[in-house]
This record gives sequence, C-alpha cells and structure tokens, in this order.
Amino acid sequence: MNMSEQNTPSAAGAHTTNNGAAGTETSAPYGSTAPRRRTRIHHLREYKRRGEAWAMLTSYDTYTARIFDQAGIPVLLVGDSAANNVYGYESSLPITVDELLPLVRAVAGAAEHSLVVADLPFGSYQASPEQALHTAVRFMKAGAHAVKLEGGRRYADHVEALVAAGIPVMGHLGFTPQSEHGLGGYRVQGRGDQAENLLADARTLQEVGAFAVVLEMVSSDAAKRVTGELEIPTVGIGAGPECDAQVLVWTDMAGLNTGQTPRFVKRYAEVGNELARAASEFASEVRDGQFPTSEHGFD
Ligand code: KIV
Repeated sequence: MNMSEQNTPSAAGAHTTNNGAAGTETSAPYGSTAPRRRTRIHHLREYKRRGEAWAMLTSYDTYTARIFDQAGIPVLLVGDSAANNVYGYESSLPITVDELLPLVRAVAGAAEHSLVVADLPFGSYQASPEQALHTAVRFMKAGAHAVKLEGGRRYADHVEALVAAGIPVMGHLGFTPQSEHGLGGYRVQGRGDQAENLLADARTLQEVGAFAVVLEMVSSDAAKRVTGELEIPTVGIGAGPECDAQVLVWTDMAGLNTGQTPRFVKRYAEVGNELARAASEFASEVRDGQFPTSEHGFD
C-alpha cells in the first residue's frame, strides 16, 4: 500500500503527508533531512473529527521505538514510567530529567514517523511556568516533538507558556501517578461529584492550547463525557472504550513485565516468557557444548 495515499491511524499508513487545514506538507526546509511523513498534532485532531481511534505506546529505547514506529503506532510516549520499567524504581517519583533525557534521544532518533512525546518528570515543572519551559526546552532539544505534564487548572499558566514557545503539550488528568500520595493511592477518578472537576480541568487544558489529554483510571462515564465535550483528543488508559485514543505501557502490553498488571492492561504477547526461554536455551547450549559451532566462528 502506498503510505502517502493512506490517511488512517489504524495501520502503518498512520503516518501521512496530509497536513490537514494547512495543506499538503512540503519538503522539510533549510536542507533538513528530517522525514516528511511524521504524525503531526493536526493529524490527531483530524482523526478525532473522523471518529478514528488510534493507539499510543510507551517506548524507552531504540529497538522498541523502531519496531513500534514501523508497526504504525502514531504516537510514542517516553513516559516517566521509565522510572519503573528502566530504572527499577518503585514509583515514577524518583526519576529525573537527566535520567529521562537519554531515553528521549534514543526514541526520537529511532522513530521516523511517530510523534514522540516526552514526559516531564515530577519536580521538573511544578514550581513555575519558567521552570516548565526550561525543562520542556531540554526535552525538545533532545528530539521530542511534544511534552506531557500531569495536572489541570493549576498548571494552566505552565501549559500556556510552553504552547506560546511553540512546544506542543499533552495534558494528563484523572489518576496522575506523580500525585499518588496526594490522591491517596491508586484510585479511580472522575466518579460522582469529581466528574465536574475533571471536565473543568480538561476544558482549561484545551483552552490554553493542549493538543490532547490523557485520562488515566477515570470512570468510563466521565471519560465519555470529557471526550464528547472536547475538540482535542482524549487518550485513555483504564478510562473505557469511548476515548479517542488508547495508551498502554509497552512492557505491560507485551508481557515483558511478568509481575501483576492493572486490570485495564491487555497482554498482547508474552515477551518475558519468550526471553526467559531464549536465555535458558542459550545457557544450556553453552553448558552442553552445542553453542558455538564452527558456523559461529572465524577461520
Ligand atoms: O508514564 C507513562 O507511562 C504514562 C502513561 C501511563 C500515560 O504517563
């Protein structure tokens, strides 16, 4: 299939040359070698307008970025979930900008088509719009195409400052892991009276220029309401089927994380088991003298 003719988020052709309202995207200016068929934020709005759901996955390294990019995942998130998945911390709170930056560089360097979103870690943006801008600029210089931050109305000025500087911002509402202790643990958000607050936060993020909003562990009813009211896409994780897009942490989705996964995770593969099998087969072949053979050596 000719990728440039296809304009759907559901396959490899998610990456298109169509520049929406601005017309067809032309070659990159100033002698840049940047690929032209990058998913742009206007594509995501277009998918919403057309009612086409799309997928986002986390990625923290070159190999997964390349594989997911080739698989047609339009948006890759270098999430602060790297805290658990790369660094082995118990929560996302300890990860620092300096720890996340090299992962963003790796993913952005490998993704030819996907839009790469960098998560702003806890403590790197909350203090002021200036701090948020300073941190976001570091991620953009590392190759990110957008940043994500957690929180609603109280970070309106922060989001506005980034958008004014030309940095696309993805919001994150509902259960926000960086506020785990303030929220009293892993609790579903948006039920009952909380729905109005959630909606007000989402509307504000849209008003100040966010291009999408993650809804994490939000009741399906509330997520449906927010999705219906916003022009920008909602990206659900444990927020029901009515969101415009869905995101999963790749290690959960692919079964690399063999520990307990939340109820909203679906495992599409058992990569952890397969790796364990490969590692023990390698070890046993070395032990038994079956590896290496002459075909793996040099004359
Ligand atoms: O860091 C992360 O992986 C995230 C997703 C759960 C949305 O924020």
